[in-house]
Amino acid sequence: MAKLVISDLPDSEFDGKRVFVRVDFNVPIKDGVISEDYRIRRAIPTIDYLIEKGAKIILASHLGRPKGRVISDLSLKAVSSRISELLGKPVKFIGKVIGDDVRMEVNELQKGEVMLLENLRFHIEETYNDPEFSKELASLADIYVNDAFGTSHRKHASTYGMASYFDFRLAGFLVNRELKFLARLRDNPEHPFIVIVGGAKIKDKISALKNLLEKADKFLIGGGVAYTFLKAKGVDVGRSITEDEMIDWAREALQKYEEEIFLPVDHVVAESFEKRKVCMVVDNEIPDEFCGFDIGPKTVAKYTSQVQGTGTIFWNGPMGVFEVDDFSAGTTHLARAVALATWRGATTVVGGGETIAAIRKAEVLDSEIVHISTGGGASLEFLGGEELPGVSILNDKKE
Ligand code: 3PG
Repeated sequence: MAKLVISDLPDSEFDGKRVFVRVDFNVPIKDGVISEDYRIRRAIPTIDYLIEKGAKIILASHLGRPKGRVISDLSLKAVSSRISELLGKPVKFIGKVIGDDVRMEVNELQKGEVMLLENLRFHIEETYNDPEFSKELASLADIYVNDAFGTSHRKHASTYGMASYFDFRLAGFLVNRELKFLARLRDNPEHPFIVIVGGAKIKDKISALKNLLEKADKFLIGGGVAYTFLKAKGVDVGRSITEDEMIDWAREALQKYEEEIFLPVDHVVAESFEKRKVCMVVDNEIPDEFCGFDIGPKTVAKYTSQVQGTGTIFWNGPMGVFEVDDFSAGTTHLARAVALATWRGATTVVGGGETIAAIRKAEVLDSEIVHISTGGGASLEFLGGEELPGVSILNDKKE
Protein backbone atom coordinates (compact mmCIF):
# COMPACT_ATOMS: atom_id res chain seq x y z
CA MET A 1 0.00 0.00 0.00
CA ALA A 2 1.40 3.44 -0.98
CA LYS A 3 2.13 5.81 1.87
CA LEU A 4 0.77 9.32 2.41
CA VAL A 5 3.37 11.86 1.28
CA ILE A 6 3.74 15.43 2.57
CA SER A 7 2.46 16.80 -0.75
CA ASP A 8 -0.82 14.82 -0.31
CA LEU A 9 -1.91 17.11 2.53
CA PRO A 10 -3.54 20.51 1.92
CA ASP A 11 -1.08 23.38 2.49
CA SER A 12 -3.20 24.68 5.39
CA GLU A 13 -2.37 21.56 7.44
CA PHE A 14 1.26 22.68 7.74
CA ASP A 15 0.73 26.39 8.33
CA GLY A 16 2.13 27.26 11.77
CA LYS A 17 2.35 23.56 12.74
CA ARG A 18 5.34 21.96 14.47
CA VAL A 19 6.61 19.23 12.16
CA PHE A 20 9.07 16.59 13.44
CA VAL A 21 11.17 15.32 10.53
CA ARG A 22 13.24 12.18 11.18
CA VAL A 23 16.16 12.47 8.77
CA ASP A 24 19.22 10.24 8.29
CA PHE A 25 22.20 12.54 8.60
CA ASN A 26 24.52 9.65 9.50
CA VAL A 27 27.32 11.04 7.31
CA PRO A 28 31.11 10.70 7.54
CA ILE A 29 32.55 13.50 9.72
CA LYS A 30 36.21 13.82 10.68
CA ASP A 31 37.48 16.62 12.93
CA GLY A 32 34.19 18.47 12.43
CA VAL A 33 34.41 18.28 8.62
CA ILE A 34 31.77 16.42 6.61
CA SER A 35 33.46 14.50 3.81
CA GLU A 36 30.28 13.28 2.04
CA ASP A 37 26.92 15.04 2.32
CA TYR A 38 24.64 13.22 -0.18
CA ARG A 39 22.19 12.18 2.56
CA ILE A 40 21.89 15.80 3.69
CA ARG A 41 21.40 17.18 0.19
CA ARG A 42 18.76 14.57 -0.63
CA ALA A 43 16.67 15.70 2.37
CA ILE A 44 16.65 19.36 1.32
CA PRO A 45 13.52 19.20 -0.96
CA THR A 46 11.38 18.06 2.01
CA ILE A 47 12.74 20.82 4.24
CA ASP A 48 12.28 23.44 1.46
CA TYR A 49 8.68 22.31 0.99
CA LEU A 50 7.84 22.53 4.69
CA ILE A 51 9.47 25.98 4.98
CA GLU A 52 7.36 27.19 2.05
CA LYS A 53 4.18 25.87 3.71
CA GLY A 54 4.90 27.84 6.89
CA ALA A 55 5.73 24.86 9.12
CA LYS A 56 8.00 25.03 12.19
CA ILE A 57 10.55 22.35 11.45
CA ILE A 58 12.28 20.11 14.00
CA LEU A 59 14.96 17.91 12.40
CA ALA A 60 16.30 14.85 14.24
CA SER A 61 18.86 12.21 13.30
CA HIS A 62 21.33 9.72 14.69
CA LEU A 63 25.06 9.73 13.92
CA GLY A 64 27.08 6.56 14.39
CA ARG A 65 26.43 4.14 17.22
CA PRO A 66 27.25 5.94 20.51
CA LYS A 67 25.10 3.42 22.48
CA GLY A 68 23.63 5.97 24.88
CA ARG A 69 26.88 7.82 25.60
CA VAL A 70 27.55 11.47 24.75
CA ILE A 71 30.54 11.41 22.40
CA SER A 72 31.57 14.83 21.15
CA ASP A 73 32.90 13.45 17.83
CA LEU A 74 29.39 12.18 17.15
CA SER A 75 27.65 15.51 17.72
CA LEU A 76 25.42 16.75 14.89
CA LYS A 77 26.66 20.35 15.27
CA ALA A 78 28.69 20.26 12.04
CA VAL A 79 25.61 18.98 10.23
CA SER A 80 23.52 21.99 11.28
CA SER A 81 26.03 24.35 9.63
CA ARG A 82 25.94 22.29 6.44
CA ILE A 83 22.10 22.30 6.29
CA SER A 84 22.15 26.02 6.92
CA GLU A 85 24.53 26.54 3.96
CA LEU A 86 22.35 24.39 1.71
CA LEU A 87 19.10 26.09 2.75
CA GLY A 88 20.62 29.57 2.71
CA LYS A 89 19.12 30.35 6.12
CA PRO A 90 20.04 29.79 9.76
CA VAL A 91 19.39 26.40 11.35
CA LYS A 92 19.31 26.48 15.11
CA PHE A 93 21.32 23.63 16.62
CA ILE A 94 19.90 22.45 19.93
CA GLY A 95 22.60 20.57 21.80
CA LYS A 96 19.99 18.29 23.36
CA VAL A 97 17.28 15.85 22.35
CA ILE A 98 14.62 16.12 25.06
CA GLY A 99 13.91 18.20 28.17
CA ASP A 100 12.61 21.62 29.18
CA ASP A 101 15.26 23.54 27.22
CA VAL A 102 14.29 21.75 24.02
CA ARG A 103 10.60 22.38 24.68
CA MET A 104 11.31 26.08 25.21
CA GLU A 105 13.28 26.32 21.95
CA VAL A 106 10.47 24.58 20.08
CA ASN A 107 7.91 27.00 21.52
CA GLU A 108 9.98 29.90 20.21
CA LEU A 109 10.19 28.54 16.66
CA GLN A 110 8.51 30.79 14.09
CA LYS A 111 6.83 29.74 10.84
CA GLY A 112 9.43 28.61 8.28
CA GLU A 113 12.19 28.29 10.89
CA VAL A 114 14.33 25.15 11.19
CA MET A 115 16.05 23.58 14.18
CA LEU A 116 18.18 20.44 14.57
CA LEU A 117 18.25 18.31 17.72
CA GLU A 118 21.40 16.58 19.01
CA ASN A 119 22.24 12.96 18.10
CA LEU A 120 19.21 10.85 19.11
CA ARG A 121 21.46 7.89 20.03
CA PHE A 122 23.07 9.85 22.88
CA HIS A 123 20.00 8.38 24.64
CA ILE A 124 20.00 4.59 24.81
CA GLU A 125 16.18 4.80 24.96
CA GLU A 126 16.21 5.67 21.25
CA THR A 127 17.48 2.27 20.10
CA TYR A 128 15.37 0.41 22.68
CA ASN A 129 12.27 2.12 21.31
CA ASP A 130 11.49 3.17 24.89
CA PRO A 131 7.80 4.19 25.24
CA GLU A 132 8.48 7.15 27.59
CA PHE A 133 11.22 8.50 25.35
CA SER A 134 8.96 8.08 22.30
CA LYS A 135 6.18 9.97 24.05
CA GLU A 136 8.52 12.77 25.05
CA LEU A 137 9.79 13.14 21.48
CA ALA A 138 6.24 13.06 20.12
CA SER A 139 5.17 15.82 22.51
CA LEU A 140 7.45 18.24 20.63
CA ALA A 141 5.37 18.27 17.44
CA ASP A 142 1.96 18.18 15.71
CA ILE A 143 2.91 16.23 12.57
CA TYR A 144 5.46 13.42 12.03
CA VAL A 145 7.47 13.01 8.82
CA ASN A 146 9.87 10.17 8.03
CA ASP A 147 12.53 11.24 5.55
CA ALA A 148 15.18 8.86 6.92
CA PHE A 149 14.98 5.97 4.47
CA GLY A 150 18.44 4.72 5.51
CA THR A 151 17.17 4.13 9.07
CA SER A 152 13.68 2.87 8.25
CA HIS A 153 14.68 -0.75 8.93
CA ARG A 154 15.27 0.16 12.59
CA LYS A 155 12.37 -0.12 15.04
CA HIS A 156 13.62 2.76 17.17
CA ALA A 157 11.79 5.48 19.14
CA SER A 158 12.23 8.13 16.46
CA THR A 159 11.59 5.86 13.48
CA TYR A 160 8.69 3.89 14.93
CA GLY A 161 7.67 4.36 18.57
CA MET A 162 6.91 8.08 18.48
CA ALA A 163 5.03 7.96 15.15
CA SER A 164 1.99 6.22 16.64
CA TYR A 165 1.21 9.36 18.70
CA PHE A 166 0.41 11.35 15.54
CA ASP A 167 -2.69 11.46 13.33
CA PHE A 168 -0.47 12.52 10.44
CA ARG A 169 2.54 10.23 9.93
CA LEU A 170 3.84 11.10 6.49
CA ALA A 171 6.59 10.12 4.08
CA GLY A 172 8.97 12.88 3.01
CA PHE A 173 10.07 13.23 -0.61
CA LEU A 174 13.32 11.28 -0.08
CA VAL A 175 11.52 8.28 1.40
CA ASN A 176 8.84 8.41 -1.29
CA ARG A 177 11.44 8.46 -4.08
CA GLU A 178 13.40 5.55 -2.60
CA LEU A 179 10.28 3.43 -2.12
CA LYS A 180 9.09 4.04 -5.67
CA PHE A 181 12.42 3.15 -7.24
CA LEU A 182 13.30 0.19 -5.04
CA ALA A 183 9.79 -1.33 -5.22
CA ARG A 184 10.19 -1.66 -9.00
CA LEU A 185 13.52 -3.39 -8.47
CA ARG A 186 12.15 -5.67 -5.74
CA ASP A 187 9.11 -6.72 -7.77
CA ASN A 188 10.55 -6.90 -11.24
CA PRO A 189 14.34 -6.87 -11.44
CA GLU A 190 15.91 -7.46 -14.81
CA HIS A 191 18.04 -10.62 -14.74
CA PRO A 192 20.83 -11.50 -14.33
CA PHE A 193 20.52 -9.72 -10.97
CA ILE A 194 23.81 -9.35 -9.10
CA VAL A 195 24.07 -8.33 -5.46
CA ILE A 196 27.42 -7.07 -4.19
CA VAL A 197 27.80 -6.97 -0.42
CA GLY A 198 30.72 -5.84 1.70
CA GLY A 199 31.43 -3.54 4.62
CA ALA A 200 31.75 -4.05 8.32
CA LYS A 201 28.15 -4.38 9.61
CA ILE A 202 28.45 -8.12 9.08
CA LYS A 203 25.47 -9.34 11.10
CA ASP A 204 23.05 -6.86 9.48
CA LYS A 205 24.26 -7.67 5.99
CA ILE A 206 24.18 -11.43 6.38
CA SER A 207 20.69 -11.29 7.93
CA ALA A 208 19.44 -9.23 4.99
CA LEU A 209 21.08 -11.58 2.49
CA LYS A 210 18.93 -14.45 3.74
CA ASN A 211 15.88 -13.16 1.92
CA LEU A 212 17.75 -12.11 -1.18
CA LEU A 213 19.30 -15.51 -1.91
CA GLU A 214 16.14 -16.67 -3.67
CA LYS A 215 15.73 -13.49 -5.68
CA ALA A 216 19.13 -12.62 -7.11
CA ASP A 217 21.33 -14.70 -9.42
CA LYS A 218 24.82 -14.01 -8.09
CA PHE A 219 26.35 -12.61 -4.92
CA LEU A 220 29.80 -11.04 -4.89
CA ILE A 221 30.98 -10.89 -1.30
CA GLY A 222 33.79 -8.69 -0.01
CA GLY A 223 34.82 -6.58 2.98
CA GLY A 224 34.19 -7.85 6.50
CA VAL A 225 31.26 -9.97 5.32
CA ALA A 226 33.59 -12.17 3.21
CA TYR A 227 35.74 -13.36 6.14
CA THR A 228 32.71 -14.83 7.93
CA PHE A 229 31.80 -16.81 4.80
CA LEU A 230 35.41 -17.90 4.26
CA LYS A 231 35.70 -19.04 7.87
CA ALA A 232 32.44 -20.98 7.44
CA LYS A 233 34.06 -22.68 4.45
CA GLY A 234 37.03 -23.70 6.56
CA VAL A 235 39.45 -21.17 5.05
CA ASP A 236 41.93 -19.67 7.51
CA VAL A 237 41.20 -15.91 7.78
CA GLY A 238 43.88 -15.07 10.37
CA ARG A 239 42.78 -12.22 12.62
CA SER A 240 40.29 -10.72 10.12
CA ILE A 241 36.94 -9.55 11.48
CA THR A 242 34.19 -12.17 11.50
CA GLU A 243 30.73 -12.57 13.04
CA ASP A 244 30.96 -16.00 14.60
CA GLU A 245 27.28 -16.32 15.43
CA MET A 246 26.52 -16.19 11.69
CA ILE A 247 28.98 -18.95 10.75
CA ASP A 248 26.50 -21.85 10.87
CA TRP A 249 24.04 -19.99 8.69
CA ALA A 250 26.82 -18.97 6.29
CA ARG A 251 27.92 -22.62 6.00
CA GLU A 252 24.39 -23.75 5.11
CA ALA A 253 23.99 -20.92 2.61
CA LEU A 254 27.27 -21.88 0.94
CA GLN A 255 26.16 -25.50 0.66
CA LYS A 256 22.84 -24.54 -0.89
CA TYR A 257 24.04 -21.68 -3.11
CA GLU A 258 27.55 -22.84 -3.99
CA GLU A 259 27.28 -21.65 -7.59
CA GLU A 260 25.75 -18.29 -6.75
CA ILE A 261 27.95 -17.04 -3.90
CA PHE A 262 31.36 -15.71 -4.96
CA LEU A 263 34.07 -15.24 -2.34
CA PRO A 264 37.51 -13.59 -2.53
CA VAL A 265 40.35 -15.82 -3.74
CA ASP A 266 43.11 -13.44 -2.64
CA HIS A 267 43.47 -10.65 -0.12
CA VAL A 268 45.46 -7.55 0.74
CA VAL A 269 46.62 -8.19 4.31
CA ALA A 270 48.58 -6.44 7.04
CA GLU A 271 49.50 -7.31 10.61
CA SER A 272 47.11 -4.65 11.87
CA PHE A 273 45.51 -1.41 10.73
CA GLU A 274 48.29 0.51 12.53
CA LYS A 275 51.04 -1.58 10.90
CA ARG A 276 49.51 -1.22 7.44
CA LYS A 277 52.65 0.13 5.81
CA VAL A 278 53.79 -3.50 5.65
CA CYS A 279 50.98 -4.95 3.61
CA MET A 280 51.04 -7.73 1.03
CA VAL A 281 48.82 -9.84 -1.20
CA VAL A 282 48.14 -13.47 -0.26
CA ASP A 283 46.21 -16.19 -2.08
CA ASN A 284 43.35 -18.06 -0.35
CA GLU A 285 44.38 -18.51 3.32
CA ILE A 286 45.32 -15.51 5.47
CA PRO A 287 48.30 -16.21 7.77
CA ASP A 288 47.48 -16.39 11.49
CA GLU A 289 49.00 -13.09 12.53
CA PHE A 290 47.47 -11.10 9.64
CA CYS A 291 44.13 -9.39 8.92
CA GLY A 292 42.45 -8.98 5.54
CA PHE A 293 41.78 -5.34 4.64
CA ASP A 294 40.87 -5.53 0.93
CA ILE A 295 40.19 -8.03 -1.84
CA GLY A 296 43.26 -8.91 -3.91
CA PRO A 297 43.88 -8.39 -7.67
CA LYS A 298 42.67 -11.87 -8.73
CA THR A 299 39.37 -11.30 -6.92
CA VAL A 300 39.12 -7.84 -8.48
CA ALA A 301 39.49 -9.36 -11.95
CA LYS A 302 36.89 -12.02 -11.18
CA TYR A 303 34.34 -9.59 -9.70
CA THR A 304 34.75 -6.85 -12.30
CA SER A 305 34.17 -9.34 -15.11
CA GLN A 306 31.05 -10.73 -13.37
CA VAL A 307 29.31 -7.35 -13.30
CA GLN A 308 29.43 -6.88 -17.09
CA GLY A 309 26.48 -8.07 -19.15
CA THR A 310 24.06 -8.01 -16.22
CA GLY A 311 20.50 -6.68 -16.02
CA THR A 312 20.55 -5.34 -12.47
CA ILE A 313 23.29 -4.64 -9.93
CA PHE A 314 22.71 -3.71 -6.31
CA TRP A 315 25.81 -2.82 -4.30
CA ASN A 316 26.04 -2.18 -0.57
CA GLY A 317 29.28 -2.11 1.40
CA PRO A 318 32.89 -1.55 0.30
CA MET A 319 35.28 -4.39 -0.54
CA GLY A 320 37.87 -3.18 1.96
CA VAL A 321 38.93 -0.27 4.14
CA PHE A 322 38.68 2.03 1.12
CA GLU A 323 39.29 5.22 3.14
CA VAL A 324 42.98 4.21 3.29
CA ASP A 325 44.79 4.25 -0.06
CA ASP A 326 46.61 0.94 0.60
CA PHE A 327 43.25 -0.84 0.87
CA SER A 328 41.12 1.06 -1.64
CA ALA A 329 42.00 -0.70 -4.92
CA GLY A 330 39.33 -3.42 -4.71
CA THR A 331 36.50 -0.98 -4.06
CA THR A 332 37.77 1.53 -6.63
CA HIS A 333 38.06 -1.04 -9.45
CA LEU A 334 34.65 -2.45 -8.63
CA ALA A 335 33.07 1.04 -8.57
CA ARG A 336 34.45 1.75 -12.02
CA ALA A 337 33.25 -1.62 -13.30
CA VAL A 338 29.74 -0.94 -11.97
CA ALA A 339 29.80 2.47 -13.71
CA LEU A 340 30.79 0.77 -16.96
CA ALA A 341 27.95 -1.73 -16.53
CA THR A 342 25.56 1.25 -16.37
CA TRP A 343 26.77 2.44 -19.76
CA ARG A 344 26.23 -1.11 -21.05
CA GLY A 345 22.57 -0.90 -20.05
CA ALA A 346 22.40 -2.39 -16.53
CA THR A 347 20.15 -0.88 -13.86
CA THR A 348 22.76 -0.09 -11.24
CA VAL A 349 21.96 0.82 -7.64
CA VAL A 350 24.54 1.78 -5.05
CA GLY A 351 23.29 2.15 -1.50
CA GLY A 352 24.49 3.21 1.94
CA GLY A 353 26.63 5.97 3.40
CA GLU A 354 29.98 4.17 3.12
CA THR A 355 29.36 2.89 -0.40
CA ILE A 356 28.39 6.37 -1.59
CA ALA A 357 31.62 7.73 -0.07
CA ALA A 358 33.49 4.90 -1.83
CA ILE A 359 32.14 5.72 -5.30
CA ARG A 360 33.05 9.37 -4.71
CA LYS A 361 36.62 8.32 -3.89
CA ALA A 362 36.68 6.24 -7.09
CA GLU A 363 35.60 9.42 -8.97
CA VAL A 364 32.52 7.74 -10.38
CA LEU A 365 29.98 10.37 -11.43
CA ASP A 366 26.38 10.40 -10.17
CA SER A 367 25.28 10.01 -13.80
CA GLU A 368 27.19 6.71 -14.02
CA ILE A 369 24.92 5.00 -11.48
CA VAL A 370 21.19 4.68 -12.17
CA HIS A 371 20.08 5.13 -8.56
CA ILE A 372 22.19 6.21 -5.59
CA SER A 373 20.21 5.08 -2.57
CA THR A 374 20.57 6.72 0.84
CA GLY A 375 19.86 3.30 2.36
CA GLY A 376 22.37 0.48 2.76
CA GLY A 377 20.94 -2.06 5.20
CA ALA A 378 17.46 -0.58 4.67
CA SER A 379 17.66 -1.11 0.89
CA LEU A 380 18.97 -4.65 1.29
CA GLU A 381 16.10 -5.55 3.62
CA PHE A 382 13.52 -3.86 1.42
CA LEU A 383 14.77 -5.63 -1.72
CA GLY A 384 14.60 -8.91 0.18
CA GLY A 385 10.88 -8.28 0.70
CA GLU A 386 10.98 -7.27 4.37
CA GLU A 387 8.61 -4.67 5.77
CA LEU A 388 10.49 -1.66 7.10
CA PRO A 389 9.04 -0.56 10.47
CA GLY A 390 9.71 3.13 9.72
CA VAL A 391 7.62 2.82 6.57
CA SER A 392 4.87 0.49 7.76
CA ILE A 393 4.00 2.91 10.62
CA LEU A 394 3.22 5.75 8.16
CA ASN A 395 -0.35 6.56 7.04
CA ASP A 396 -1.57 4.61 4.03
CA LYS A 397 -2.58 6.63 1.03
CA LYS A 398 -6.32 6.16 0.38
CA GLU A 399 -7.00 5.47 -3.30
C1 3PG B 1 23.14 3.49 7.86
O1 3PG B 1 24.17 4.15 7.74
O2 3PG B 1 23.01 2.37 7.31
C2 3PG B 1 21.98 4.09 8.60
O3 3PG B 1 22.23 5.39 9.00
C3 3PG B 1 21.60 3.22 9.78
O4 3PG B 1 22.64 3.15 10.70
P1 3PG B 1 22.71 1.91 11.75
O5 3PG B 1 23.10 0.70 10.95
O6 3PG B 1 23.76 2.32 12.74
O7 3PG B 1 21.35 1.76 12.34
